Amino acid sequence: MSEILSTLKPHAGRLLGLHTLSLFEADVARTDDFGIEAAGLYLDYSKQRLDRAALAALLELATKAALTARIEGLFRGDIVNPTEARPALHTALRNPEDLSATVNGEPVGPLVAHTLARMHEVVKAISKGQWRGASGDTITDVVNLGIGGSHLGPQLVCDALRNLHTEQPRVHFVSNVDGGDIDRCLSKLNPARTLFIVASKSFTTPETAVNARTAQAWVTGTMTQADAIARHFFAITANPARAVAFGIAPDNVLPMWDWVGGRYSLWSAIGLPIALAVGSEAFTGLLEGAREMDEHFRRSPLASNLPVLLALIGLWNTNALEAESYALVPYDERLMLFPAWLQQLEMESNGKRITLGNEPVGSHTSPVVWGGVGTNVQHAFFQLLHQGTRRIPVDFILPLTHPRSPQAHHDMLVANCFAQAEALMVGRSREVLLAENPDPVLALHREQPGNQPCNVLLMEALTPRSLGALLALYEHRTFVQGVMWNINSFDQWGVELGKKLAATLLEEIHEGHVGSAHDGSTRSLLQRYLKARQT
Ligand code: F6P
Repeated sequence: MSEILSTLKPHAGRLLGLHTLSLFEADVARTDDFGIEAAGLYLDYSKQRLDRAALAALLELATKAALTARIEGLFRGDIVNPTEARPALHTALRNPEDLSATVNGEPVGPLVAHTLARMHEVVKAISKGQWRGASGDTITDVVNLGIGGSHLGPQLVCDALRNLHTEQPRVHFVSNVDGGDIDRCLSKLNPARTLFIVASKSFTTPETAVNARTAQAWVTGTMTQADAIARHFFAITANPARAVAFGIAPDNVLPMWDWVGGRYSLWSAIGLPIALAVGSEAFTGLLEGAREMDEHFRRSPLASNLPVLLALIGLWNTNALEAESYALVPYDERLMLFPAWLQQLEMESNGKRITLGNEPVGSHTSPVVWGGVGTNVQHAFFQLLHQGTRRIPVDFILPLTHPRSPQAHHDMLVANCFAQAEALMVGRSREVLLAENPDPVLALHREQPGNQPCNVLLMEALTPRSLGALLALYEHRTFVQGVMWNINSFDQWGVELGKKLAATLLEEIHEGHVGSAHDGSTRSLLQRYLKARQT
């Protein structure tokens, strides 16, 4: 049994027999002490099925894992991704002045600062109408072509900061290789006024390449000027040679670097669509909010460190309470894409089974991450949280104010958020129900056990700063859990096999034959497709 399990299981055994409400009775300071504030975010974790002794055990495990030193190593540029021999310096993207972050002994800050300045120039040129398309028109629409980390973060931030969108340009996102995605987007646009950003760290991702080719054909189909591609395409990549080979003008290629993980890259030039949508000032605010969280994470003791506590609570729920998934429920439409972003961040980072010591992990790693926006999901999956058979921790996220929501709406939203958290913890006993209605069968069906663990995360308002802090908080949560499980949170070898098989299948589809190397099921599915394709 792993040390995590052997340490935590006795505490879980003690706590699983109790109702969380009784923990408030036993510890009068619980409400105040099980809350923490940093970088404008307040976390109430008193509704977790956790007491001081269990928390102390978690912190001791973190100390044993040398977490403080590992955090410092992350910021400094240590090789935290040994299977690819790379650091993961997303924190340097929000703090170019910090010369302690180095790669091969060289500070990365100057590179970051230079790229940020270039991004701001591009934003200014496009938004002020100085950048013209090949026919001399100003750019009204920008389409980001990217997938995974080159899509989810920028799309989430653009959506979350929708109240700050500048008049021009409008920013759109296409990620899926499903041609319906790009068709939906381009059918509304005018090629003469559209600019594409091909966002791909590797510049080898097939979905992005196919979308970029389709976009290229769409532009050159109506615009015959020799500089059509140069005026309508930018690339963001760590592989500039491939971008140039693709036909993008060298001056239109903005760099990123292999020391930034794709899913941690929205703070780099991959964030160009964000800066175009909300302006350079708001993009800077986003970076500042993240930096504030970084500073807190780097400097605070483990016991008063918000990302560390959030991570340890997650570890507790996964490994001690054996929760298989956890749900993210923002009570704000603007954060609708937050669960999708976190799915990649957490599951691609910590969906691992082998430790950094090259052994099987010995406990479960990343839970399944899912969620949706409140109050909508109360009328969808909340029934299962209240009366289903599974333990599913929930993170509620709530901005306390809203710039455009009438007070009557916002009061109701807040009341619902707090009510759901309360109901999930407190539940409703059969005795209470019987006092209302003596029908024992009905009481059986109406009973809610409660005891569902949840966090409530508050912020004053959803601004570039608080959003930056929120995203950095969850990035660090993911990192801390990776340290605790002693896994590499920064590679993603598991995505390779599917990509390789897809390439083989695509060749066979083009050749119209079914290869013998496949299993029977895959052969039969392919035969069906080849038949359908003929008609
Ligand atoms: O599918 C895995 C992945 O490599 C992600 O890690 C990455 O964010 C995404 O594909 C896109 O990669 P790229 O930015 O290189 O196109």
